[in-house]
Amino acid sequence: MPTPEIDLVVYPDECDAFGHLNQASFLSLFERARWEMLREGPGMDVFTRTGSWPALRKTVIDYRAAAFPGDVLRFHQVLTHVGRTSFTMRQTARRVRDDALIAGAEFVFVCIDREGRPTPVPAEFREYMNRRRDVQADVQRITVNGVNLAVEVRGEGPAILFIHGYPLDRTIWQDQILSLDGFRRIAPDLRGMGQSDAPDLGYSMSIYAADLAALLDVLGVDDVVLCGLSMGGYIALEFLRQRRSRVRGLILMDTKAEADTPSIKRSRDVAAATARERGAVAIADTMVPKMLAAGTMAARPDIAERIRTLISGMPVSGLVGALAAMRDREGSEGLLKTLAEVPTLVVAGEGDTLTPPSEARAMADAITGAELAIIPGAGHLPPVEQPEATTGKLREFLEKLG
Ligand code: MLT
Repeated sequence: MPTPEIDLVVYPDECDAFGHLNQASFLSLFERARWEMLREGPGMDVFTRTGSWPALRKTVIDYRAAAFPGDVLRFHQVLTHVGRTSFTMRQTARRVRDDALIAGAEFVFVCIDREGRPTPVPAEFREYMNRRRDVQADVQRITVNGVNLAVEVRGEGPAILFIHGYPLDRTIWQDQILSLDGFRRIAPDLRGMGQSDAPDLGYSMSIYAADLAALLDVLGVDDVVLCGLSMGGYIALEFLRQRRSRVRGLILMDTKAEADTPSIKRSRDVAAATARERGAVAIADTMVPKMLAAGTMAARPDIAERIRTLISGMPVSGLVGALAAMRDREGSEGLLKTLAEVPTLVVAGEGDTLTPPSEARAMADAITGAELAIIPGAGHLPPVEQPEATTGKLREFLEKLG
């Protein structure tokens, strides 16, 4: 069974006069972790057996925190790209004691023979790394902007980033994550929700979007299709405002472009007070019937129960933070008019009462060239209420993008 991680101890002789692990030693530890991984897997001679050598061509390291003598660093390594003669490995070093991200690095290698000519990446190495990826294909914890996010990453291909709504988590995309093979599916829990950290402060659309951009950096993803549901759509639009060059396509699901009206702003504050005083269960009680279509409520008590349980487990700080972020977000009507060159699909549940199909239609009309898909039998949560139909629409759109 492939080993997912390598633990290495920081020694005093690897540190500078102030006791920090120094740069040269850190590079050696990254290299040591790669060789240890091979030792535990296909053997350290996996390259020389085939007469090829992985020559390092490029290194990018992001130092995030200091490490000191005695710290045990856990190195995680994954192939982010493999071509015929070259490959890119992403490594992270986290401190075992507190799971802090100490550094992340990307190494680009070209396999060469003794004359320095490019040679194919050994098949055994490629297979070993792919097996490792399968083992690790579920939930990872990735630190961005000082917050640990739980992230599910599956598959290979063009990347699609799923952004859940309020007060939900990544599991609303379960069917899409499992089914959309041929794409690299990335589904984080936003800060404050699901299994991600929930700081007391630090919530806004621009912070959520910055978390997602940093997450893509860590995963070595340059550009993505953004797929945001409801609050996830607000975040997707904010991401576009700041980082348009990274967006290959856009899926806006059961969401809207307008900012909150004064009366909705007031209701955000009332909901925040409810969460503080009576907890997440009280939020679940009010949200579940609004989120699901009447037909889902009547015929699928299992779905209603699943969403109730999910919301009931949300950290109050995350709920309060998200409510403030939604209350204070800016409108995106002007932005929609500028999206002609961003391939866009607007999706809405036919029975959504929170963001009705009429709003989806208006949004699709405002974006030149946007497509619209209405999902029968769904309310505010098409990916959960009508998973096959929703996944089918997404696949059609994604395949057209190539
Ligand atoms: C969501 O599903 O994310 C929320 O309903 C959005 C909102 O309350 O504006």
